[in-house]
Amino acid sequence: MRKNIIIEHATMVTPLGRKARKGAAMGELSVTADATVIVTDGIIEYAGPTEGRPATRPDEHYTLLDAHGNVLLPGFVDSHTHLIFGGFRPDEFGWRLRGESYMSIMERGGGIQSTVNATREASEDELVEKAQWFIDRMSEMGVTTVEAKSGYGLDSDTELKMLDAIERLACKTGQRAEVVATFLGAHAVPREYAGRTGEYVDLIINEMLPRFKGKAKCCDVFCEKNVFELEDSRRLLEAAAAMGYSLKLHADEIVTLGGGELSASLGALSADHLLHVSDEGVKAMAEAGVVATLLPLTAFALKEPYAPARKFIEAGAAVALATDLNPGSCFSGSIPLTIALACIYMKMTVEETITALTLNGAAALGMADRIGSIEPGKRGDFVMLGCDNYNVLPYYVGMNCVKTTIFDGRIVAQNP
Ligand code: NIG
Ligand code: FE
Repeated sequence: MRKNIIIEHATMVTPLGRKARKGAAMGELSVTADATVIVTDGIIEYAGPTEGRPATRPDEHYTLLDAHGNVLLPGFVDSHTHLIFGGFRPDEFGWRLRGESYMSIMERGGGIQSTVNATREASEDELVEKAQWFIDRMSEMGVTTVEAKSGYGLDSDTELKMLDAIERLACKTGQRAEVVATFLGAHAVPREYAGRTGEYVDLIINEMLPRFKGKAKCCDVFCEKNVFELEDSRRLLEAAAAMGYSLKLHADEIVTLGGGELSASLGALSADHLLHVSDEGVKAMAEAGVVATLLPLTAFALKEPYAPARKFIEAGAAVALATDLNPGSCFSGSIPLTIALACIYMKMTVEETITALTLNGAAALGMADRIGSIEPGKRGDFVMLGCDNYNVLPYYVGMNCVKTTIFDGRIVAQNP
């Protein structure tokens, strides 16, 4: 018998819809003061006023949760992480504090390349065990769906090892969140292909993309000056789209290159980072319906300017928020700090951050039809806060105000 749950008397707060909410609509949430949610076989069957709930429900088969005095939100979707990796890079953080830049460390063989060395050496079991620790912590912060990228292998077998590790995490019995794989073979040019970027792109197109089809839903690229520039990125992503991958880009993270515009011309699901996106890029993404996934923890950790969230929202684009958890540019998976930075520095409203971390995060993964809001037919994923005022989300700066996380109708994390 499947687990099921009835959550009663909650202050239910959710964006509504089965696709991304754009522009001003990001700020419109549905609020129900005394709500009941009934989840059967992991799927929301009823979500609405307690007094209107179906009367004939056989309650004895359901876990009953009294949420009186608590906000109930959709589960958070962290749609951009690099949570599978070998080793750690604390020394690099020290070098950056002393003035070195992220790109100069990368250009002298550190950065991503140093994690590539450690990931090539790690066993699949080690990668799985390490990533599970991050997923457990994220679950405590309300995350019920998390994207995980490959991209620290940069050879076909190690990329496969990463994708297999992600698959094992996704399939674990009793898993606390859905784990969605993205293929990021174009994260850096591996040292064995130094100076031969085009040949490495050929390898990805001819060998890796066909091999990993079905193992990853999306294909991503670090589209950046001196990494994969616009033409290489376009060639790669067009090939990926032709093979059925959905598209994502690390775009305009370090310099203004035109990644935002490229994402729009390719019809990508999302372009991410965008700290240095041009005004034309903002407009093109809004018109093409590309989700702008903003990662304020990375801007904070690299001491870079924050992405222009308000420009995107005012242009009518859909904004998602995610952590970018990775061992280099942003060693943090903190949802609370993501929300606080988005509100304080990117001037997003609390309502907008809720939409950005739920429905729009789901849209950035092409999953808005089945997760991201509390509506019948969607999966029973919820975050219950410890009080009935959702303004605690940014108010708890960097501290966790999540009381209970529910994934697929099961209570998977309970904080004191
Ligand atoms: O999203 N910029 C490229 N990729 C990651 C960082 C990866 C790393 O430093 O290991 C990012 O910031
Ligand atoms: Fe990233």
